[in-house]
Amino acid sequence: MSSLDAIKSSFNLTKDQFQAIVNGFKQEYEQGLNTAEAKGLATMIPSYVTRLPTGQEKGTFLALDIGGSTLRVCAVELLGQGQVKVNEVKRSIPMTDPLRTGEIEPFFDWMVDTVDLLLKEYHLDTTTSSLSMGVSWSFPIDQTSVSDGKILRMGKGFDLKGIEGQDLKTLFMEAFQRKNVKVKVTALINDTVGVLVAHAYNDPKARIGFIYGTGTNAAYPEKVSKMVKLNKDHSLYQDDAEMLVNTEIDIFGSDAYLPLNRFDRLLDANHNQPEFQLYEKMMSGAYLGELVRLAALELVKEKYLFDGHIPLEFKDMYSFESSQLSDLESRSADALEVRLQHFASMFTFDTPIHYQPTEKDLTTMTELCRSVATRGAKLAGAALASLIEQQYDLFQDPKEPIVIGINGSTFELYPQMPDRILTSLSDWFGPEITDRIRLEVARDGAGIGGALIAMLYAHDEEDDDL
Ligand code: GLC
Repeated sequence: MSSLDAIKSSFNLTKDQFQAIVNGFKQEYEQGLNTAEAKGLATMIPSYVTRLPTGQEKGTFLALDIGGSTLRVCAVELLGQGQVKVNEVKRSIPMTDPLRTGEIEPFFDWMVDTVDLLLKEYHLDTTTSSLSMGVSWSFPIDQTSVSDGKILRMGKGFDLKGIEGQDLKTLFMEAFQRKNVKVKVTALINDTVGVLVAHAYNDPKARIGFIYGTGTNAAYPEKVSKMVKLNKDHSLYQDDAEMLVNTEIDIFGSDAYLPLNRFDRLLDANHNQPEFQLYEKMMSGAYLGELVRLAALELVKEKYLFDGHIPLEFKDMYSFESSQLSDLESRSADALEVRLQHFASMFTFDTPIHYQPTEKDLTTMTELCRSVATRGAKLAGAALASLIEQQYDLFQDPKEPIVIGINGSTFELYPQMPDRILTSLSDWFGPEITDRIRLEVARDGAGIGGALIAMLYAHDEEDDDL
């Protein structure tokens, strides 16, 4: 077996391994639903969202969407009949931005300044009353009501001093006061919950909200009666009530059922948060490039790739990005010469070598990218399979579609990603069930979803204020 084949097979996921992951995830759902308290890390987090929009609501609501690489603040005008108009202001936060690892206040002031910018740019009037804002927080949070929750360990390169355990709404409200901006936070949501609500606004059959971008995660509606962790609050809900649950599936998994190969282990050992989010590290957009780089370095060492020369682009951790994987894979239909020329332009070799990449290098790198990304697709498929199985009622009516709203760059931009995920689902469920599965892009999930939930719960907040 060639060195490349050996590496490719270490990224392969067999049916047995797929099954072990689906079973492992299902066990973690049960365990998470039964665990009352979040201690540092939490999964199966109740969102307290039990209402879904009808599509007829009107008015302007704000949403703030903070993720791994971008802050987006939106003014969402609900026009009724499922229609929305979105105005937004976006700012990126590079991985090395000191805001990520500094004090809490400057980070929240920066977010609130962006909200202020949006209000001014789009002449939104807050003179008579404050606008309601939904915050889509793409990090784990231990939620205690629709608008209250304590911040848990953040991940995605964020390590703000003293942030863990702080109340998220309070931090925003204090920043709004410091900056004299008339906005109130009426909902805190995880981005996956937002995706599901936003998608349900268009298609009420949506039963899973999935994110597959820089990070990964999923939300689905669970029967309140099964949510042991809500203990005393059960009396507040009707017997058949359902609540959206943020699974934080990104944190799931351990050696017990995740087939970690040597590159996964190396990536994890080099990471600033080792042993955290092992599943996410195997498959999400933040890590695909690094896995390829680590595997490629091994092939360079063996002189199988680039004739033993390490390109400058491979010298630093995370220097090879998922967008480059996607770029390489998307060119497979181009003429060889064109692909080779482009490939050579991606890598620089130290003088005096000036190594010229060959066709074998191109093929090797493309195949590596394909194996790593295809394993990512299968791992996403395993999560979706487990979420479908968790909702028994989806199997009741063989004519009903199983609608999944998905948001994120890895799903939306990576060549053939939806097909690869569907193939893994088809291998698992067979054609009959797979024909019912709709993987639909939920483009503006976190923004529109955040605004919709802010709208749905705006009045509850007013009552609270009394
Ligand atoms: C990370 C976060 C999670 C979020 C996901 C997708 O896994 O921990 O809260 O939903 O990324 O953005």
